[in-house]
Amino acid sequence: MPYYRAVGQIPRKRHTQHRRPDGGLYAEELMGVEGFSAESALLYHRHAPTAILDSALWEAPGDAPTTANRPLLPRHLVTHKLDAGPADAVTGRQLLLANADVRLGYVAATVPSPLYRNAVGDECVYVEAGAGTVETTFGALMVGAGDYVVIPTSTIHRWLPSGPDPLRLLTIEASGHIGPPKRYLSAKGQHLESSPYCERDLRGPTEPLLAADPGDAGAPAHAAETADTTAATTAIARHTAHAAGVEVLVRHRAGGSRVTYAHHPFDVVGWDGCLYPYAFNIADFEPITGRVHQPPPVHQTFEGPNFVVCSFVPRKVDYHPQAIPVPYNHHNVDSDEVLFYTGGNYEARKGSGIAQGSISLHPAGLTHGPQPGAVERSLGAESFDELAVMVDTFRPLELGPAAAACEDPGYAWTWAGGRPV
Ligand SMILES: [Fe+2]
Repeated sequence: MPYYRAVGQIPRKRHTQHRRPDGGLYAEELMGVEGFSAESALLYHRHAPTAILDSALWEAPGDAPTTANRPLLPRHLVTHKLDAGPADAVTGRQLLLANADVRLGYVAATVPSPLYRNAVGDECVYVEAGAGTVETTFGALMVGAGDYVVIPTSTIHRWLPSGPDPLRLLTIEASGHIGPPKRYLSAKGQHLESSPYCERDLRGPTEPLLAADPGDAGAPAHAAETADTTAATTAIARHTAHAAGVEVLVRHRAGGSRVTYAHHPFDVVGWDGCLYPYAFNIADFEPITGRVHQPPPVHQTFEGPNFVVCSFVPRKVDYHPQAIPVPYNHHNVDSDEVLFYTGGNYEARKGSGIAQGSISLHPAGLTHGPQPGAVERSLGAESFDELAVMVDTFRPLELGPAAAACEDPGYAWTWAGGRPV
């Protein structure tokens, strides 16, 4: 749970009159999770957030059928093989792995995305490379390589890549809520001293986006003066000029719909609460190390429904004089384990073909461990420069169409030195 924030113009008391400069009332909206019994935010809109003009069917990409991991194999997916020309961060997502709790996709985004609302669950999007802005009803987040971007359920947003290179994204779409592990937090929700990151490391929106409705006297003056939001405001103006309303793609529990709103959803003048999008950079994750090999839970960063997200970051390694720094062979008997290799050299996987942008899937039912020779090579090492994101799921992952399109078929046999012919 992020900590409390207040951004923009809000009234001193909740649920009281909050008036525009022209005397009209702002429209208050409560966004809350778990039946309004957990985190929430109060947002103040210039226009009614309820006003819709149309709703039509939309086939959400990534809702493609998946297939079971049978016969059971460890898998190596080469995500950079999926690059396919112009793509946006929402409709360009290619489904790699999925179960009822979480879906993992990949996209190299080069163009702005449509406005999007995922009403099924929270998203945690990891930025492998590139830079851009995520515009949301709460404000904008500038994002770059190494950022986890956590977007709460039903937050209307869009992705705007910037710079010459694609915005490479690993998309982690939950069927529920994503947040820090409970063991990192005090009973009242503060990050504990034992947590590998804390509130100072989380970046939330700092001001409303303030969609530039032409002629809207309620638009506070400071919006266009902020460098971070100038590009966003320009982009929004293009949408708000559309007389027929503003289209938002909605992924919901029954499928996808294309909803047209009467007013641009980025019309919030202020909000407060503990529910909002935020970014956390993997470089701010402080690794926990020991004299001998530390188990994967020390790397945990987030938890979702029936899955966890962990960060393997550059660190000093085990300092017992007889330590073996790479992992032992292991079998997480209740989980499928996904690793996304996003930087440095991953010592345990040398010789397997794993490279930048690779994903390995090590499913329950098979023991996995270092590649041949990795244990001996690691002896005496003082540090690893590996950078990887791990997603462990408690239910088995199925393979999406993009997995078949980018799989390295030789990976499963690399521990045995190749498949006999
Ligand atoms: Fe593992």
